[in-house]
Amino acid sequence: MGSLTSHLPAPAIEALRGTRNAGLWALSPLDAGLRRIQGRTALPPLPLRRHAGRASIFEAAARQMSDAIDRLGLLAPNANVLDAGCGAAAMALQWQPRMGPGFHYTGFDVHEPSINWCKKHFAKDPRFTFVYADVSSAYGHATTPLDAFTFPVEPGTVDFELAKSLFTHLVPTEVEHYLAQTRRALAPTGHALLTAFLFDDSDPMFQTPAFPFGEPDRAVRWRLQARPAAAIAYGRTFFTELVEAAGLRIVTFEPGYWPGVVAVPLAQDYLIVTPA
Ligand SMILES: C[S@@+](CC[C@H](N)C(=O)[O-])C[C@H]1O[C@@H](n2cnc3c(N)ncnc32)[C@H](O)[C@@H]1O
Repeated sequence: MGSLTSHLPAPAIEALRGTRNAGLWALSPLDAGLRRIQGRTALPPLPLRRHAGRASIFEAAARQMSDAIDRLGLLAPNANVLDAGCGAAAMALQWQPRMGPGFHYTGFDVHEPSINWCKKHFAKDPRFTFVYADVSSAYGHATTPLDAFTFPVEPGTVDFELAKSLFTHLVPTEVEHYLAQTRRALAPTGHALLTAFLFDDSDPMFQTPAFPFGEPDRAVRWRLQARPAAAIAYGRTFFTELVEAAGLRIVTFEPGYWPGVVAVPLAQDYLIVTPA
């Protein structure tokens, strides 16, 4: 988003999103037909791909994440996996052809149209479960309070949790709750890979040009003035304190965005956490 859109009021941003989505829905049959003719795999409709990020890199970004997860040795073929903020199943589409019969995947998201598509697309594969997260959020229409929402898995059972581009949309109260839920979900030997935009909050003069808005006394900054959840960044020290307060510890940190000096964030930081 350019600097003009960064300052737009919330109703104007919503109107722009609505217009863009209407155009993408109109193009979707053409896109699906072209993919069929070219013998390419079926993907979610364009607006659902766009909801998860740039539609043109929906598959490439998921492949890149899948490769990173393999490189980090985080996923066994028969693992119990939780995909928090799964969107339109970009990762499930990567894993479906590769995983074993004992693989079990649960994806949840607040975006009902995406979850409806996922349920239909994976209906014949019992390894995959998708759950609509009926919780109040800037990304959905539900009103259930955050405190009343638990991740849709049994406590202490998840071998691997992925939160790909989820914490980059969560405000501090949501971050605290979702970290606590991650702690609840993980098996004692389980790991979670969270992606985030973290900046260097050890220096009070530090600038974050990609995230111009924020609260003066907190290490939380965002990109669009009227819609913090569109893209949000945290001070690394502050975020680490939140992780530790949730009973988790960071075992690996791979910088992507950090320390946050670029004007356009190109990649997200990776944090691997495990129960403390
Ligand atoms: C950038 S998209 C990433 C989607 C998916 N992880 C992927 O990589 O394709 C962020 C997703 O988080 C979802 N989301 C935002 N707030 C959420 C919340 N409080 N709980 C669950 N999902 C949320 C959005 O609906 C959206 O699908």
